[in-house]
Amino acid sequence: MKRIFSGVQPTGVITLGNYIGAFRQFVAMQEDYDCIFCIADEHAITVPQDSDSLRNSIRALAATYIAAGIDPHKSTLFIQSEVPAHAQAGWMLTCTAYIGELERMTQFKDKSKGKDAVSAGLLTYPPLMAADILLYNTDIVPVGEDQKQHLEITRDLAERFNKRYGEVFTIPEIQLPKNGARIKSLQDPLKKMSKSDENKKATIRLLDTPKEIEKKIKSAVTDSEGIVKFDMENKPGVSNLLTIEAALSNMSIDDLVSKYDGLGYGAFKSGVAESVIQHLTPIQERYNELIDSPELDEILNVGAEKANKIASETVMKMESAMGLGRKRR
Ligand code: TYM
Repeated sequence: MKRIFSGVQPTGVITLGNYIGAFRQFVAMQEDYDCIFCIADEHAITVPQDSDSLRNSIRALAATYIAAGIDPHKSTLFIQSEVPAHAQAGWMLTCTAYIGELERMTQFKDKSKGKDAVSAGLLTYPPLMAADILLYNTDIVPVGEDQKQHLEITRDLAERFNKRYGEVFTIPEIQLPKNGARIKSLQDPLKKMSKSDENKKATIRLLDTPKEIEKKIKSAVTDSEGIVKFDMENKPGVSNLLTIEAALSNMSIDDLVSKYDGLGYGAFKSGVAESVIQHLTPIQERYNELIDSPELDEILNVGAEKANKIASETVMKMESAMGLGRKRR
């Protein structure tokens, strides 16, 4: 069975973009693959975090994974910092990466622009993410489009390591969702929908109330043409809403265009809001049951144990290939 690995950072709120780009793919894939999912808390500290909110966000993200449909009997869910192999392998891969290639990463350039104090971890984030993936002999990594460059550098580092020290790593492939690899901001449909957007109306949070969702979608930026059709270039706002409904309802964009044919943007937006609310309500109910439950801790304990077993074996292989420590007998 092929191995799937992916991760999400526990920073701030989880958005509809994360849900469509990542969680939905995860849930679909767990039927046919051996899936491992990670709460990437060590990635979150590349920028300053308040410790109490980080702890809360880690738990909230764990509950979100399960509420979104990850079945702990089928998939492994764990917290990155509870598996020390990530930091160990991250260091070995940091020593395999070049400063130049890390400085060229779009995310590093975006997040460091205009700041005088940037953590070294923001620069060495990609080798840590490569470690996450490579530790589990991963075949496929389901992510949204914004992670494409990180996957490319993961493959480069794996190939470089294998060439230099011997075949240790499987070279992973990226998998993007069919619909919704890049969900856009509701207020500026040229930008991606992001956890950190300051304009609260731009982002739908997974835990938004039906009223909030309806309000945000009703005030989404569209255009003045009044015709519902898919045209990314000239109608990015309408196309984004169509993408959202298509991803959630499993209807094709063409079916949706026929559904809204001749109706104005008012009816269109109500329809999209309705489908988002219908989809998120059961997830929110399950989330509320889980968030304070001991069941969640049990899932994370089992997950950490399983992940530690696989990851520590890979770390041993890496150390042995690189010549670290003493020869194992
Ligand atoms: P993060 O936490 O920023 O995002 C989690 C997942 O959500 C996807 N995503 C989106 N998809 C569609 N439209 C959007 N607007 C949108 N915004 C976010 C992301 O592509 C991602 O799949 N570095 C990663 C976390 C990570 C990871 C890993 C991922 C750590 N280790 C190993 C894969 C494998 C990150 O910051 O994702």
